[in-house]
Amino acid sequence: MKILVVYYSMYGHTLKLARAATEGAREIAGAEVILRRVQEFEDVDKEIDKHEHARAMREQQKDIPICTVEDLREADGVLLGSPTRYGNMTAQMKHLIDKTASLWLKGEMEGKPAGVFTSTASTHGGQETTLLTMMVPLLHLGMLVVGVPYSLPEMIHTEARGGTPYGATTITGAKGELEPKSEDLNIARALGRRVAEIAAKLRA
Ligand SMILES: Cc1cc2nc3c(=O)[nH]c(=O)nc-3n(C[C@H](O)[C@H](O)[C@H](O)COP(=O)(O)O)c2cc1C
Repeated sequence: MKILVVYYSMYGHTLKLARAATEGAREIAGAEVILRRVQEFEDVDKEIDKHEHARAMREQQKDIPICTVEDLREADGVLLGSPTRYGNMTAQMKHLIDKTASLWLKGEMEGKPAGVFTSTASTHGGQETTLLTMMVPLLHLGMLVVGVPYSLPEMIHTEARGGTPYGATTITGAKGELEPKSEDLNIARALGRRVAEIAAKLRA
């Protein structure tokens, strides 16, 4: 059983959630979990060249393979992570999704579980809108969207941190100065585990 964790991250926060989701999925027996990043745009890549921190983060990710449509086709369950851009997923992530017409035509993603995660700079910067709108194309593809249940102890809180029933999240700060809290990572781990667990049950 193959689980794909695919993400986009410019400053590394979404990558940390992606790694936690990967760890969680790996806890399920028989899960072969692969981590993939989304292709960067050429013009954004040129901008990154000018910024030391973004350059360093790109360097950290260079060995993570780029996600292909084939990776999506082969997956039995998928976790998708994107930073929030104006309350939505990044164009880079949407670009990958928009390449899936061949999968949609043949119904190749139908019945596969999917979970989503995101990061925002600010507390009310649109985590839920990003997660909910990320789910829309997944539903068009016929995927079974999986959230985070409130039975997870980290879920009920009033602190400045992530964690929504729609998916895993974290808050980065305006300058990316914050790190994902341990609770945010636990929720991402739980989401990865849940998608893999459901994929295993569906295959059985
Ligand atoms: C064009 C643009 C739009 C953004 N829109 C939002 C937003 O709507 N809400 C928010 O809280 N943060 C917003 N941010 C901040 C990003 O969400 C933040 O940098 C990102 O979550 C960091 O994730 P990363 O470390 O994985 O790159 C925006 C950033 C950019 C560059």
